[in-house]
Amino acid sequence: MAAAKYIVGNWKLHGSVQENAARLAALKAGCRSDVALAVCVPFPYLAQAQQALQGSAIAWGAQNVSEHAKGAFTGEVSAAMLTDFGCSCVIVGHSERRSLYGEDDATVARKVQAAAAAGITPIVCVGETLSERERGETAQVVTRQLAAVLVHVSTETKRHMVVAYEPVWAIGTGLAASEEDVREVHALLREQLERAGAANARLLYGGSVKASNAKTLLNIANVDGALVGGASLNAEEFLEIAQAARA
Ligand code: 13P
Repeated sequence: MAAAKYIVGNWKLHGSVQENAARLAALKAGCRSDVALAVCVPFPYLAQAQQALQGSAIAWGAQNVSEHAKGAFTGEVSAAMLTDFGCSCVIVGHSERRSLYGEDDATVARKVQAAAAAGITPIVCVGETLSERERGETAQVVTRQLAAVLVHVSTETKRHMVVAYEPVWAIGTGLAASEEDVREVHALLREQLERAGAANARLLYGGSVKASNAKTLLNIANVDGALVGGASLNAEEFLEIAQAARA
């Protein structure tokens, strides 16, 4: 039997204690255990997610992690701190962190290693920008981003990490990548993972995943789940995406 699809919500910079309470309660009430669901919430809400979701089938995690374990790094949050709040996963190298906060491939690799060393599943994001795509550089960009991580992490980490292909031009635009694009890039990433001894690492697609296109995207070869931004803020729609993963 194929492993359950993994559907991860990335709340980004959204939420409030009040808003989250309603969303988390709705998720808990509506989820079933045959799809692996997780929500990655802003740091201040990790305790709230932990309290609301403990004992449910939904996991929770963060959207960033420090490459450092401790020390004079004002504003940073370590992987060990995330484990204190029961995080099972963390998004690393999201394109918004790469483009807005200057995270390069080497930093991303160190963060992946830090998360994995603490027993947290890193969800490593790769993806080309629109101009890179227009220059025909998609394959080159995503394989470079993934290679930077693969060379730096242990075999054990490689096996347990999750890779999310998120074409930057598809994020928040309402325009998901085409089936053909997703099939092609995921096949390429799968081959790269196989060569690195990580054939079973899960490969997610992200970028304008919605209830209306989830089934099509999740049925593409080598798509083991989805990383969902905007649509994960609506509990009903997020659960519909989970339903599509089940079908
Ligand atoms: P959207 O689903 O809003 O396009 O965002 C995707 C994303 O960035 C998830 O990490």
